[in-house]
Amino acid sequence: MECRKWLLDALIVGAFAASLVVVIPGSSHAQSAKDTYAKLCESCHGANGKGDGPVGKLINPHPTDFAVSLKGKSDDWIAKAIKGGGPAVGESDVMPAYGDLSDQQIKELVDYIKKFNA
Ligand code: HEC
Repeated sequence: MECRKWLLDALIVGAFAASLVVVIPGSSHAQSAKDTYAKLCESCHGANGKGDGPVGKLINPHPTDFAVSLKGKSDDWIAKAIKGGGPAVGESDVMPAYGDLSDQQIKELVDYIKKFNA
């Protein structure tokens, strides 16, 4: 009957509207460097920057322990490696480029990974 179809349409529209309400609150949340690192870098570089993440163990070259590889490197050099990837600093292209991160996010990541160097 006609009224059945109306009910079905209302259900579909209602479910769609409900899904929008669920999605919106989660998306407007600034990420800390720790979250960004966990999401983008940890799989290769490992939770403590030692290069022993699950992917890091499989790839060649393995990422180097940041405590060793960042020694004597300037913030600019580190930022360049993150933004442009390995080749930007003469390293392997296994290190991906993160050109879509903002300068602020990169600066926070630089400070975050330098802390492993202690
Ligand atoms: C697919 C694995 C992978 C991911 C993901 C990754 N890296 Fe790397 N990264 C590498 C490898 C491998 C090297 C070493 C390349 C070499 O030695 O030639 C490297 C090198 C670097 C270097 C240069 C210093 C060094 O240790 O050689 C920095 C800085 C760096 N990564 C930061 C990051 C940050 C920050 C992220 C996340 C935004 C990230 N990487 C994500 C694999 C990865």
